[in-house]
Amino acid sequence: MKAPKPDSTRGRGSLIRLVRGFRRDLLSALPERFYRAWMAEYRNPLIHSFVCNDPGLVKLILQERPDDFPKSDRLREGLAPLLGESIFVTNGEQWKHQRRIIDPAFEGGRLRETFPAIWSAADATLTRLTEGEMDIEPEASHAAADVIFRALFSLPIEHEIASRVFRAFRAHQDAQPIVNLAALVPLPRWLPRLHSARTRRTAAEIRGLIESLVAQRMETIEAGTAPDDLATKIMTTPDPQTGQCFSASEMVDQVAIFFLAGHETSASTLGWALWLLAANPDWQERVAREGRGLTKDFSAISTLKVTRAVFREALRLYPPVPMMVREATRPEVFRERPVPRGAQLVLSPWHLHRHERLWQRPDDFDPGRWETPEGKASARDAFIPFSAGQRVCPGAGFAMLEGVIMLARIVAAFRLSPGCVPPVPVARLTVRGRDGILIRLERRKDSE
Ligand code: HEM
Repeated sequence: MKAPKPDSTRGRGSLIRLVRGFRRDLLSALPERFYRAWMAEYRNPLIHSFVCNDPGLVKLILQERPDDFPKSDRLREGLAPLLGESIFVTNGEQWKHQRRIIDPAFEGGRLRETFPAIWSAADATLTRLTEGEMDIEPEASHAAADVIFRALFSLPIEHEIASRVFRAFRAHQDAQPIVNLAALVPLPRWLPRLHSARTRRTAAEIRGLIESLVAQRMETIEAGTAPDDLATKIMTTPDPQTGQCFSASEMVDQVAIFFLAGHETSASTLGWALWLLAANPDWQERVAREGRGLTKDFSAISTLKVTRAVFREALRLYPPVPMMVREATRPEVFRERPVPRGAQLVLSPWHLHRHERLWQRPDDFDPGRWETPEGKASARDAFIPFSAGQRVCPGAGFAMLEGVIMLARIVAAFRLSPGCVPPVPVARLTVRGRDGILIRLERRKDSE
């Protein structure tokens, strides 16, 4: 089965058309040739950017010389009201200090400790879901937000502050979709990166709520009564080089990005994975069989081999972070072409994962590909849903654990079929369905 992608434009297009296109939808605004090109250059008096699909270039930028290709200041500007100086937008020494504190919280060994939080959130999701046709995206967002609140602060989404943060996040995204795109793609500097009054208000509301969670946690840490969750771990881990812990305000920045990066992305993949299974009943039954055998036992997760392959295939076809942008800090030569200082370098999981020269049958949903030598070779060269190198997503292991548990448990409990309209992917903050993702759910009988 072919996994839908939006229609692309054919040619270069004028700048105005491009900007309009970005406003409407980033994915369809970009030309079809990006699925074949090793490198594509956009150039006009205002922006100069290079989409880099050559695996050698991706490796150079993300893994071999990442300090020469930092994140651009535009990203920071776009996301500042909500994220302040969080790890997602900082560079250099400040970023390294933050990463030294955050990484230990997500080390392999600690995943086992987040397992009960994920399991309980899956229980709650199964209680909430009902039969019938629905847009699965809000359900997936709810589930992923629940996971992140439980793992970070040991709070279910029903907790008053947690549910207020969740609601405020939704309002915030409605208020500033264009700013998000401006943060992701190299739009010209003159394009107003307006933070509307509503954006500023919703960002301030979210940060106020997070401040109160952090302050309460500080008190329980001092009293020695804090639960052993991710927030406690991050707030009590000193930077091994400087001995400094995060201050309360630094912690607010980090918690804001954990909520945002941690729930939007996981929700996006869960929604697409459920839809892909709805449209592929054979794979769905194989996942359901694995899910039925699952017990609340961490070591049983390694048996979810098919579910894991399906989740990876969903990450390939619908990478939640469709593009990443870096900036050249000095003149470079890429594929014999000069790249000036300040050029914007676009790394596009969206195009890389469906690249016609890097994948066989790139638009086909085929979880079996991960076991083939060709699939493994393509994955090595062209599969970066979590990025790569020193800025690789620290939550990758956590997200995979959450994804396979949620998927296996939902599919074991419900039979899925596609809704009346197939979804059309668009890039919002993450890759979402333009009109949602419609799926029909029918509760399975115990014996199935
Ligand atoms: C399917 C789920 C997820 C996907 C596909 C994903 C993907 C990514 C990608 C591509 C980046 C790099 C962005 C860039 O360099 O521009 C990133 C960074 C990040 N992610 Fe994730 N992520 C996921 C889940 C999570 C979760 C669950 C958490 C936390 C609980 C998390 C926390 C972060 C943080 C803090 C960063 C910034 C790291 C840095 O810049 O050093 N992510 N993620």
